Amino acid sequence: MKKIWLIGAVALCGLLSYTAFAPSRELSMRARSHFSGAQSPVSAVHALDDGLALTPPMGWYPWNIFGEEPQNEKLIREIVDALVSSGLKEAGYAYVGPDEGICFYRQPDGRLTTNLERYPSGLRGLGDYVHKKGLKYALYTDAGTRTCSTEMPGTKDHEFEDMLQFADWRADYIKIDWCNTEGQDIVKTYTTICDAQRAAGRPVVHSLCSWGEGYPWRWASAVGHLWRTTADICAPGQADWARAMRMASANEKLAAFAGPGHWNDPDMMISGMPGISDSQSRSFFSLWCLMAAPLIAGNDLRSMSEATIKTLTNLEAIGINQDPMGIQGKIVWTDGTISLWAGKPLFDGSQAVLVFNQGRHPAQKQIAWPEIGVDAAAACYVRNLWTYETTGPLTGGVTVSVAPDDVAMLRVSMKNDFPLPPIIVADSYLVSLRSTGSAPQKLTGAITITNKGSVELSPWRVGEGLPAWLSVSVTKNGRSQTFTNTVSTAGLKKGLYHAVVRADNKEPVSGKPMSALYYDVDLEVTRDVKAKSR
Ligand code: GLA
Repeated sequence: MKKIWLIGAVALCGLLSYTAFAPSRELSMRARSHFSGAQSPVSAVHALDDGLALTPPMGWYPWNIFGEEPQNEKLIREIVDALVSSGLKEAGYAYVGPDEGICFYRQPDGRLTTNLERYPSGLRGLGDYVHKKGLKYALYTDAGTRTCSTEMPGTKDHEFEDMLQFADWRADYIKIDWCNTEGQDIVKTYTTICDAQRAAGRPVVHSLCSWGEGYPWRWASAVGHLWRTTADICAPGQADWARAMRMASANEKLAAFAGPGHWNDPDMMISGMPGISDSQSRSFFSLWCLMAAPLIAGNDLRSMSEATIKTLTNLEAIGINQDPMGIQGKIVWTDGTISLWAGKPLFDGSQAVLVFNQGRHPAQKQIAWPEIGVDAAAACYVRNLWTYETTGPLTGGVTVSVAPDDVAMLRVSMKNDFPLPPIIVADSYLVSLRSTGSAPQKLTGAITITNKGSVELSPWRVGEGLPAWLSVSVTKNGRSQTFTNTVSTAGLKKGLYHAVVRADNKEPVSGKPMSALYYDVDLEVTRDVKAKSR
């Protein structure tokens, strides 16, 4: 017996009648930077009320460094462990799991099944491991008949059964590629997949991966949380700086389409990969932070240099990316090889600013306050997010010196105070309880959620409609809050019970909703339990 409870309402996806142009993958790869499409959002309001990805998702995916090989359970577990031990988890990275790498097959009866040779614990077993580490589980599939390598089945014509299977594996994030989709209407296809995800009953971050094909920024906010705007950022194993800069430039033009719950995705990060210098890694990371791009690391987390760890875990830079306003910054001006990036007001009224030097020589530039949306007469404090120094108060503007391939990443504020927005870290996303005997029992399991940001949160509000066997209370201890899950087994039949608990909160300074928090509660009842005696 299996009972599944989902706490919190999830709306049906809106059906779209928008007709999209779908150039071939090859064409789109070549032409991507030229076809940014409309200048303003077509479907500005997305239909999702799952509260997911209200700030850009953070995590790790294998493709950039490994490609298809080696991808197996051992590798993903090692990466999960490295995510925790390196401090990336504490910096907010959460979504992790396999990309394309033969992790499942389709059985003759149509159902997906784990490739047990590569994933001996099963994809569900791996998901449980990820959740117990306080991380979120990411999986991969394709909207067509086969994945890009053609070695794995795509989800075409199996959308509803596949999404049920992904829910059973406990995926929290699904990347859905666009290979082998000849003749498919892109909007209808991704809408069907969204409907299937909703029907499966598990809230999931939907990452569309059509590399910009079909102009997803125009319509995909109604059916997903992020969409690739560009081709692959590198061939597996080696970063390609020039190519990454072309992707940044194409993605920058789409700033108007991004916002909480719907993000432009210029692909996984190359910071820390072979082929680029430490300053390029840092510049790349800064650009992704300023563009409110998903921060999905793509390097080998098991063998990172100190410099890479320092870059990827810079909470002041991450705070720019995770700002609850969710505004994508963009280029204000370009002067030869120097560019000024701004247009990203932050939750406390400060501004994020980036000066990027793509030239061969050190550069010095003057930034006048009005260029970054600040009153010319204002006296401002300037925080350098890489040197961790604050200067000010300065009137009129600031002068910065930037080394080649490097950035000056700044935060400009009227106050000498640079608070971090919420960055949420969990000790676990899975509560597993087991009852024995036929006498009623009360069992408890707790998870603790910590905010690494500097503003204290109100208590999380747990969604209505918990199943009768489960109650949840939240206690606050400074930056940490503990969710105590109490299970009463009275009257339950032998079987497996499952609930997904949702909790919501608001960022206190801006009042903006935070990404909903979800976790799983599993209960195994080993014998029929008597009802409580009166
Ligand atoms: C596409 C995607 C990549 C990766 C591969 C897997 O190229 O854009 O990120 O998922 O498929 O084959």
